Order: sequence, then structure tokens, then C-alpha cells
Amino acid sequence: MKKNLRKILVAAVAAAMLLTLVAACGGGGTGGGGSSGTTIGISLPTMSLQRWVQDGDNMKEQFEAAGFNVDLQYGGENDVATQISQIENMISAGVDVLVICAIDGFSLTEVLATAKANNIPVIAYDRLIMNTDAVTYYATFDNWKVGTLQGTFLENALNLKSQSDEVFNIEFFTGDPGDNNIHFFFGGAMEVLQPYLDSGKLQCLSGQTDIMQVATVDWNPANAQARMENLIASVGYGPQHDLGIISTPLNAVMCSNDSTAQGVTQALLGAGFDADTFPYITGQDCDIVSVRNMLAGHQSMSVFKDTRTLAANVVAMVKAIVGGTTVPINDTTSYDNNVHVVPTHLSDPVFADINNWEALLIDTGYYTMDQITG
Ligand code: GAL
Repeated sequence: MKKNLRKILVAAVAAAMLLTLVAACGGGGTGGGGSSGTTIGISLPTMSLQRWVQDGDNMKEQFEAAGFNVDLQYGGENDVATQISQIENMISAGVDVLVICAIDGFSLTEVLATAKANNIPVIAYDRLIMNTDAVTYYATFDNWKVGTLQGTFLENALNLKSQSDEVFNIEFFTGDPGDNNIHFFFGGAMEVLQPYLDSGKLQCLSGQTDIMQVATVDWNPANAQARMENLIASVGYGPQHDLGIISTPLNAVMCSNDSTAQGVTQALLGAGFDADTFPYITGQDCDIVSVRNMLAGHQSMSVFKDTRTLAANVVAMVKAIVGGTTVPINDTTSYDNNVHVVPTHLSDPVFADINNWEALLIDTGYYTMDQITG
């Protein structure tokens, strides 16, 4: 009898231990690290750009599937104060890990000091958070490569390597000055294009080639459109129809992403450009609107950054942090936030245009064909 009781007790304790272990490993999740009692606070910039809605949906789905609780918040219309107060609230509510895509990467120093004081690990998501030692890890795409993909596309499209005397006109658009990524996107593109500006093979008639001159506040398409409209008016760019109207040709517009490309596209359509006369326009994100613009001949390329992969990387990082195992990173040198070099996991961005968009976006289930064709 006593023996049996002991057996039952041992079995009960073993079962309880197993349950605890299962809970610590995320229960029915994809294994390892997750915990039903673990809450991830996710703070993203805005719902007004398609990109962040997708990122939010992907992360929520994948974190929940792995057994985590998720507190997902958006910073209104890219409102820095809203983002800060949301992060403050997450800290007071006791989230276990913070995943943050900063609206302004230079504004979170104070709030993240509080996160650090509360021992909350912080993962900078997509955009590096600057001037703080509280960022534990960074997960993003190879943003320099995004820029070189765009620059190399234009180099090939305009055949810049050729020895001909032909000179091409180009204008530049990048994103929000508070987004550290713009230095990588713009820097990568300029690495390819600057030599041609220097040699005179490319000319920028507005003279606006400095990153802060070509920045677009909030990455807002309307701001890019307004600046392109100004350039059209001041430089006199126009479609080169054979109608006897004298205007200045515009051969390329280097846009760091799709939302800026969309604004530029609107301005050019308004000025009478059509598929036959559009300049080469670059982009990034494969937004639905931009895929449609590529199909219409209004945007030349985009860069596909599979947000499902980024979400999966972040979930893997969080599992490792929570489980105390080695956090998957593959870059320990490139991302210095002015305080420390943040250990980073980089994913690979992929060139996209009308030739491969279907394989990249439809065949992989990223979009349905209906979403593109409306
Ligand atoms: C960047 C991001 C891009 C683009 C842009 C505007 O930080 O890496 O993919 O979407 O913000 O939201």
C-alpha cells in the first residue's frame, strides 16, 4: 500500500514536472522556448503602410502558434509620442520581451532605459534603435543589399557601363530621416550610382543628392508626390512624346521603397507620363499597389522582403532568449547604434519585377492572385 502510494506520488511529481517543462517549452507550439505565460509586446509604426500590417499579422500569428501571448500595438499615424506611451504601458503591464519597430529610431532612449531597468530584453525589428544600450538584438533584412539591388538595376537598365556619350537624368527619393534604414538603402544605391554621377554619365538636375534633401517624412506617398511635383515644375521634366513640346527627359527615379515610388508615380501620371514614357522607377516591399504599378509599366522593380521570414526569425530569437539557448544571429559587426554593435539576424532581400513576381508572391502564398488583379 505504502509502496503503491509512493509510486503514485512519484508518478504525479513526474507528471507535474513534465507539465511544467511542456509549459516552459511552449505547449503545443512549434517546440522549444515558448511559454503560455510569456507575453511579447510588439510595437509597430503605423497601419497606414501595408508593410507593417503584414508584419503585425505575421508576428501575431507565429508567436501565438508558438504558445506566446501577444500585445500588438501600432503608433497611430507614425506618432512618436503614442509609440513611447504604448511601450511604457507594455513595460508597466509586465511584458516579458519587447519587439519594436521604431517610428523614430532616435527617440526611444529614455523609455528603453526603463525596459532595461525591468530586465526586459528588446529586439529592434526591421529598423535599428539608436543611442541606447537596451537593445539586445536586431532582426532585419540586409538593407545595404536592398540599395545595391536598386542601384544595380538602374545601372543595367540604363546601360551605364557602356562607353556611349549618352547622359541620363535621375532624381532620388529615400525615406524618413528618423529611420536608420535609409542610410543603408540610400548608401547601398549610391555605392553603385555615385561613380556615374561623378563621371557625368548620370546627372541629377535638381542638384538634390544629399540624403537629407531626398528624405520623405514618414515615408508618406503624399510627401513624395509633392516633392516630385515640385521637381517637375522647377526642372521642367516631362514625357518625351513627339508632340513638339519641349520638356526635360527624366530617365530614372531612384526610390528607396514602394510608398515613395507610388507618390512619384502619381506625380508623373499627373504630368502626362504614361507606360511608354515613364522613367525607370525602383521600389521595395512588393506592396500590392506597387505590384499593380509594375504590371501597368509604371514601376520597374521592387525588392521582396518576405515578412513571414522576418517574423519567423524573431520568434526563433524570442524562443532562444526565453529558453536560455543560443540566439540565432549572423552579423556581429554591421549595426552600431552609437552605443554598441547590436547582434543582428539578417535575412536576404530578393529582386522582384514583372518577370518573377508571380513565383515570389503568388506561388509562395504571400498574396492571392485576386489581391493583385482586384
Ligand atoms: C523601412 C522598411 C521598408 C519600408 C519603409 C516604410 O524601415 O525597411 O521596408 O517599408 O520602412 O515603411
